[in-house]
Amino acid sequence: MVLRFTEAVFLTNIVFMAKKNDSINILGIETSCDETAAAVVTDGHTIKSSVVASQSKLHERYGGVVPEIASRAHIENIYPVITEAIEKAQVDKDSIDAIAVANQPGLTIALMVGVTAAKTLSLMWEKPLIAIDHLHAHLQSALLSEQNPLLPAVALIVSGGHTCLYDYRSPLKPELIGRCIDDAAGEAFDKVATILKLPYPGGPAIEKAAEKGNPDAIKFPRSMLEKDSLDFSFSGIKTAVLYYCRGQDMKGENKVDTMTSEQIADIAASFQAAVIDVLVEKTMLAAERINARTVLVGGGVAANNKLRSDLQKRCDAATPPKKLLVAPKQYCTDNAVMVASLAYHKYKAGLFADLTLEPKACSYQ
Ligand code: KG4
Ligand code: ZN
Repeated sequence: MVLRFTEAVFLTNIVFMAKKNDSINILGIETSCDETAAAVVTDGHTIKSSVVASQSKLHERYGGVVPEIASRAHIENIYPVITEAIEKAQVDKDSIDAIAVANQPGLTIALMVGVTAAKTLSLMWEKPLIAIDHLHAHLQSALLSEQNPLLPAVALIVSGGHTCLYDYRSPLKPELIGRCIDDAAGEAFDKVATILKLPYPGGPAIEKAAEKGNPDAIKFPRSMLEKDSLDFSFSGIKTAVLYYCRGQDMKGENKVDTMTSEQIADIAASFQAAVIDVLVEKTMLAAERINARTVLVGGGVAANNKLRSDLQKRCDAATPPKKLLVAPKQYCTDNAVMVASLAYHKYKAGLFADLTLEPKACSYQ
């Protein structure tokens, strides 16, 4: 029997009614950038499996993610990654209650692979489909160990493509209160690593180099934008590092080739300190503004130890102190656990997508 598209949409909408009491197993799928990931999570917090196929080796020589290469690699990886996630979780398809997929924001041709896989499984297995915002999912990864944080909370999502602040009062509708107006923090880490000829991805490489450096060696600019602004700008600091290495007119020789490892370490440490100062200041400003009782942090850059410890100090020193919840390190960078975890809340609320679901590059609302 061949279903017409409208019939298929109808089918996906009516067959699925949220279960009331039993455990809910959700298969999450993530392909927004350069990680192909799938996971099975029960009731939003019990991780049955998590599989991530990273493409960083493919993009290393370009110093950033090449969308076409990412998309092709997702196509190759998606089936084995989903299969492995289901096998590791030791569940069969009948005990999966819903298929969740990150459909925005990200690289459209990369998102398309995950969305197509999720729609296909939803149709074939007759399971509800749940659309997930990738940034909201990063936020959810900070809540894996604590499902009921003291509210309101302020959430910092700091990744390769985004730097955002949210007023968080419910998993279903975090309110965007600040965003980057140019380069995201992770992007600045990656670009500065390229300038310093450090490996890709740049964040972990800069953090490692910075361990031996002096964070006060060079006073790089800390862009706060207008007074009281909760937006971020990191392109200035990236340019400052470039000028430091190549001269103001960019006509000087690239000094990086002749620098000692101590000099590289000082640049890495000074750059990292400047970016983290801005992230911490803005997060605490936002926390003060909304009277946050909890600070949530997620996204790839949240794996950075200095960011974690500086935020902890500021949360402890605040009056009254704020609870800091940072995503576990393995769930800071892109993964599907965060997708399946957030989908549980949408499942409970009956917020299902249908087969007209499309990938979207941008999701700022
Ligand atoms: O969340 P993510 O995996 O992908 C996006 O959604 O963008 O974040 C990747 C970003 C990269 O820019 C990477 O350099 C950065 O996170 N990153 C770090 C660290 N680990 C990853 N940045 C600073 N310190 C780290 N330890
Ligand atoms: Zn991400």
